[in-house]
Amino acid sequence: MKIVVIGGTGLIGSKLVNKLRQHGHEAVAAAPNTGVNTLTGEGLAEVLKGASVVIDVSNSPSWEDAAVLKFFETSTRNLLTYEAAAGVGHHVALSVVGTQLLSESGYFRAKIAQEQLINESPIPYTIVHATQFFEFLKGLADVSIVGGKVHLPPVLFQPMAADDVATAVARIAVGPPVNGIVEIGGPEQFRLDELVRRRLASLNDPREVIADPKALYSGATISERTLVPGNNARLGETHFETWLAQSAASAHTA
Ligand SMILES: NC(=O)c1ccc[n+]([C@@H]2O[C@H](COP(=O)([O-])OP(=O)(O)OC[C@H]3O[C@@H](n4cnc5c(N)ncnc54)[C@H](OP(=O)(O)O)[C@@H]3O)[C@@H](O)[C@H]2O)c1
Repeated sequence: MKIVVIGGTGLIGSKLVNKLRQHGHEAVAAAPNTGVNTLTGEGLAEVLKGASVVIDVSNSPSWEDAAVLKFFETSTRNLLTYEAAAGVGHHVALSVVGTQLLSESGYFRAKIAQEQLINESPIPYTIVHATQFFEFLKGLADVSIVGGKVHLPPVLFQPMAADDVATAVARIAVGPPVNGIVEIGGPEQFRLDELVRRRLASLNDPREVIADPKALYSGATISERTLVPGNNARLGETHFETWLAQSAASAHTA
């Protein structure tokens, strides 16, 4: 099956392309540096020729409110238009658990707009809602600084390894479209502040993490269960400590 991975050079996209190829699919990585730009439409008609499935795991280079909204609206509209012309039978997009509850955040307003366009399009689709990636924990600390300290609400948190995200998305993409949302998450629950503190400690990052019930998540107020998936979520296998050991070993080798 020909499967085009939009954002196929990114964190999830590159893993996804490898996994699909290992399973015998013709997976094509599409991104600006492979000549495909979903914002301008460049290269889309060519790359989609003969494709059965498109998986969108792209992300906006800027997370500023207006820029990220423009990215997800324009690129999703372009993609869906070119997919319809090429006869693509399944559009898969990666989004985030709790997206609908996070509309106070500019980033999540953009993800809501992306999901709405997919939902309104005639192309059969599956939206995958993933929890946060372990690889994102340090980035989360970076955007949660108040007065030199990391402020995070001590809510429930069930992140997962990027590798498990890619495995789940690959399986979903080769299956039938559900025309709805499938949730995926990690195998364990933590408190958000606790896990970011553990990740910073593993990196010898001295920044203090404060459990602050009033702190925002990506600009939005969140509650105890906003970031955790429901009971039907498919869970990844990789536990946080295993991932930590693996990422320390690969950093050492590199
Ligand atoms: N971070 C999390 O914890 C989390 C949790 C759940 C879901 N998600 C979702 O997961 C998705 C992928 O995240 P990621 O961390 O894998 O992203 P990433 O590593 O930042 O990769 C983004 C990809 O998008 C490509 N891209 C950027 N502009 C493009 C354009 N105009 N046309 C085509 N491709 C373009 C990039 O190509 P270049 O490198 O060439 O620019 C890159 O391949 C996002 O949609 C995000 O919302 C993230």
